Amino acid sequence: MKKGFEKYIPFEPITFEERTWPSKRIEKHPIWCSVDLRDGNQALIDPMNLEEKLEMFHLLCDIGVKEIEVGFPSASETEYEILRELIEGGHIPDDVTIQVLVQAREHLIKKTFEAIHGAKNVIVHFYNSTSTLQRKVVFKKDMAGITEIALEGAKLIKKLGDEAAAQTGCNIRYEYSPESFMGTEPEFAVAICHEVMKVMGADEKNKIILNLPSTVENTTPNAFADLVEYFCKNLPMREAAIISMHPHNDRGTGVATAELGLLAGADRVEGTLFGNGERTGNADLITLALNMYTQAIDPGLDFSNINKIKEVYERTTRMQVHERHPYAGELVFTAFSGSHQDAINKGETYMRDSKSEYWEVPYLPIDPADLGREYEPIIRINSQSGKGGVAFVMSTAYGYNLPKAMHPGFGKIVQDYCDAAGREVLANEVFDLFAQEYINVDAPYKLVRHKFYEESGIYDESQKVHFEGEIKHNGQEPVEISGTGNGPIDAFFQALSQVDITGYEFVNYSEHAISVGSDAKAVSYIELKTPKGKTVFGVGRSHNINYAPMRGILSAINRSLKA
Ligand code: KIV
Ligand code: ZN
Repeated sequence: MKKGFEKYIPFEPITFEERTWPSKRIEKHPIWCSVDLRDGNQALIDPMNLEEKLEMFHLLCDIGVKEIEVGFPSASETEYEILRELIEGGHIPDDVTIQVLVQAREHLIKKTFEAIHGAKNVIVHFYNSTSTLQRKVVFKKDMAGITEIALEGAKLIKKLGDEAAAQTGCNIRYEYSPESFMGTEPEFAVAICHEVMKVMGADEKNKIILNLPSTVENTTPNAFADLVEYFCKNLPMREAAIISMHPHNDRGTGVATAELGLLAGADRVEGTLFGNGERTGNADLITLALNMYTQAIDPGLDFSNINKIKEVYERTTRMQVHERHPYAGELVFTAFSGSHQDAINKGETYMRDSKSEYWEVPYLPIDPADLGREYEPIIRINSQSGKGGVAFVMSTAYGYNLPKAMHPGFGKIVQDYCDAAGREVLANEVFDLFAQEYINVDAPYKLVRHKFYEESGIYDESQKVHFEGEIKHNGQEPVEISGTGNGPIDAFFQALSQVDITGYEFVNYSEHAISVGSDAKAVSYIELKTPKGKTVFGVGRSHNINYAPMRGILSAINRSLKA
């Protein structure tokens, strides 16, 4: 055998100049079929038990999947019993069709029909392998031999299906998979499917589902799309078939394969939640559907509570959804990078200010709220984070809208803290840092008593405002101070001059209300120029809108003296 990469046989793409898929776009969602309970389940270390399968089945129904492959009832007693419970326990909604898989072999087909007895809507899905590799290595049969297996199975299924329909009024449809389609000569795939269609009596009213599995993904999605378009264009009686795909994910491109296959003319996709399935899994229905959603296409499936879906999936399958899994991963709406945080912050502000009807936030391809994920921290702070992220956390988690000029200073404080801690810091730590740095600053000066009043006791623009209070310096005895000014801030500065706090220039001031529970407070951000010409910020909080700026001023002065 050759060594290393040279021992592999590359996929030979078809020559297909007539392709039209590259210039198409996806305009509507396909028919979705979940194979979680079959392909997904068979790939689990510990397959789901009855309760877990039922829970997963109900979850899929709630999501809105209308075709659900529930198992391989001829494969084991457990699979058989699960199907019986689904039917006899009345778990299947009238608008949901269950699908059962069976190999094109007589005894398995018979057992399958026993298992579906009493179901209202069923797809009987049969398959046999058609690829060159499987013909050579596994079945040691030529194309005629493989076709015979398919047709023998098809004839029996049609006979038993007709009987069951006559007996119980069951609505039976049929699906045939030329398994390992991706490694099958396309002419042969078309020919065998056409023969099966004839046996099943498929027509425009009784369409057969022809499912084209990429059983083991072996090429790039574009080459697979060529195969699908070739198949669609060359299949006689195309109108009598629903073309389905069943992409696996061996090259990590199962979703892309499904998307390009839809461009190429497929009508239906089989896949699983979070891409669970044999080896690297199946195409992930969630990613596929939400990719459409973010292109303004209704996916026909409901993922508005993705966390619940994830929770049920992880519990019933004992698999973990990766932190970076599209849409559902724990970290996918989280930005650590400073420039990303800044842009998200600006995007959120833009959305608020412009009242845009559309989602226009950089770095977030979907509104997390559409998935029920609004309460998660979008921005998380580590040493790579920047001022924008810190401001975002303060605003979204605590309602503090820091003025822009404060962002660099506080950003640096948080960054130094992260560096020292050597880890991510949580939102409450950011807030504690803020409080410690700007709010709880009562040294060297501390006000022990204060009051403002107007001369007449009635507020009037022309009236002077008086301040009276007591201030302590470095814990010494309090000193009485008072001042009169055009407003509270002016009066307070006048009073401070009595303890030689002079030379500060008032640069800027902003204030807003914050509510903590039912408790509304005013918060003031004060920017002063110190006697040495430096800029310093202070923050004051109070229920009284006169006291908040006063506290902010003292915070700024104390901070400047500390520095
Ligand atoms: O991957 C596959 O080919 C299958 C078939 C049975 C459809 O699961
Ligand atoms: Zn499969």
